[in-house]
Amino acid sequence: MGSTRNIVLGIESSCDETAVALVTSDRRILAERIASQEAEHAPYGGVVPEIAARAHAERLAPMLEGVMADVGLTLDDVDAIAATAGPGLIGGVMVGLVSAKALAMASGKPLIAVNHLEGHALSPRLADEALGYPYLLLLVSGGHCQILSVEGVGAYRRLATTIDDALGEAFDKTAKILGLGYPGGPAVERLALEGDAKAVPLPRPMKGSKEPHFSFAGLKSAVLRAHESGEHEAADIAASFQQAAIDCLIDRLEKALGAAGAYPALVVAGGVAANEAVRGALEELASRRSMRFVAPPLKLCTDNAAMIAWAGCERLAKDPDFKGDPLDLKARPRWPLDPEADKVRGAGVKA
Ligand code: KG4
Ligand code: ZN
Repeated sequence: MGSTRNIVLGIESSCDETAVALVTSDRRILAERIASQEAEHAPYGGVVPEIAARAHAERLAPMLEGVMADVGLTLDDVDAIAATAGPGLIGGVMVGLVSAKALAMASGKPLIAVNHLEGHALSPRLADEALGYPYLLLLVSGGHCQILSVEGVGAYRRLATTIDDALGEAFDKTAKILGLGYPGGPAVERLALEGDAKAVPLPRPMKGSKEPHFSFAGLKSAVLRAHESGEHEAADIAASFQQAAIDCLIDRLEKALGAAGAYPALVVAGGVAANEAVRGALEELASRRSMRFVAPPLKLCTDNAAMIAWAGCERLAKDPDFKGDPLDLKARPRWPLDPEADKVRGAGVKA
């Protein structure tokens, strides 16, 4: 084993996936396990925090054992233990973080508290060795919709965020309105393939706005009205919704590029990055702007622990003498990646 190669154990539990992974600093995912809670939450049409926390607590310990057993390693072989410390559903985050603290204490290995968004933001570098800093990142998940300038480990500048709903949330709500069940994103994408994206006139919120941000609440309401009017096929609504969302993404990215200047690469991460139509539109934008387009494989786009372990690897590489985060560190329901970013309307924050 090369002396500079690190192995990091990663734990993710901020939403409805319980995940554990062992990742090396030379970009190998040695082992990973992921347990989705889709079945538990499906009857409620969304994630129920209490159910999520209990499910993480039940599953995490056997999954940790399983991952170590898969590769025949013990904590002695691991260089650090990384866990999501926020933002997310606080009960779930606490389950993962407390487990990581216990393992760190028992093994004497450093604890690395990872911001879940940082995990998403750096995940493309796990998949793509050639991706250097800086890059322009579109982070689109169930809880977030942001454009970030990723300038280095720990150096993230938020250029735009949503003033109301995240894009994944809008996909999920559209699915609920159309009776497609939960999780909604993949179901809307599938149904959209059968529909006409021009059939239903829907708004493009914030398109052309001087503000850099996103907004999807009005689009969701328009989807509801279109559905209730009884004038449109569900497939046409799905296709038109998806196209409206894509138009918003492209408009806002053009705006960010206009304000922030050139970047060598356009990168997408987060659950919505699994959407082929979204990827296609971003690829087209990148090629128009002479940028490389990087989209991680699907399993790294949705919540996973490899991205958390990888963020730990990045932290160790940046500071080889890192002694670990304090064991009394608190789980954070909110944790902005860019603390300097202006507060925006929405999410309980008044303009
Ligand atoms: O990153 P992620 O797994 O969890 C969060 O941190 O939020 O993202 C989950 C979100 C959900 O809203 C889901 O509906 C959406 O990503 N999603 C998709 C697709 N696959 C997942 N949205 C659109 N098209 C997809 N294929
Ligand atoms: Zn996520």
